[in-house]
Amino acid sequence: MAEIDLLRSLPKTQRNIRKRSEGKSEAVIAEARKFGEMYWDGPREYGYGGYRYDGRWRSVARDIIRHFSLTPGARVLDVGCGKGFLVKDLMLECPGLEAFGLDISLYALVHCEREVVGRLHLGSAEKLPFPDGAFDCVLSINTIHNLPRPKALQAMREIQRLSGGRAYVQVDSYRTPGQKALFEDWVLTALFHDYPPGWIKLFEDAGYTGDYYWTIVD
Ligand SMILES: C[S@@+](CC[C@H](N)C(=O)[O-])C[C@H]1O[C@@H](n2cnc3c(N)ncnc32)[C@H](O)[C@@H]1O
Repeated sequence: MAEIDLLRSLPKTQRNIRKRSEGKSEAVIAEARKFGEMYWDGPREYGYGGYRYDGRWRSVARDIIRHFSLTPGARVLDVGCGKGFLVKDLMLECPGLEAFGLDISLYALVHCEREVVGRLHLGSAEKLPFPDGAFDCVLSINTIHNLPRPKALQAMREIQRLSGGRAYVQVDSYRTPGQKALFEDWVLTALFHDYPPGWIKLFEDAGYTGDYYWTIVD
């Protein structure tokens, strides 16, 4: 297991934490947790505030391909793939790569990029519908914290089962009480979050041997 930031090339998003915090209510949180139209393409207080392909994942795809030495024919799964932007960019960066995704959001899959039609599966991270060792690499970016701890643990076991540890997982975290407070003002959908040592304990409990990093609001 290694801590490595494979999203380092992604442009920093501007977050208006005060506005999000003021707009938050039980109703907004419940709507966001459906991962439907409001979460993806509704007003910003519900989630992304309109999530459209702009190629920003291409440099991340390049770094992932380099890190895992992926070559044409290799099979990659993105758990929590959303509209499939990273799946598309992995295939653009490495023609011949067999990239697939899985997500719980029917809305995201129905609004996926044309290039990934047929490659995205509807499902939940704690029960991945693929055989052991089915992929050369499994990714999961900003998704596993959306499950309660027991299911997050099960999802990590599933990622390990499919990948044999050639995997990268990024989750919501914080390193200081100040960052934790900011995160708690910002968060809508996460059901489990912790400081890095808490996450690393969960990874170890799941027998996960892949790589990981943190999304920290600051
Ligand atoms: C913050 S978005 C991240 C999307 C994408 N990975 C990215 O980084 O742009 C969280 C994603 O997790 C998905 N999700 C939430 N719960 C899930 C679950 N139990 N299984 C699979 N995907 C889930 C959501 O539908 C959404 O696509």
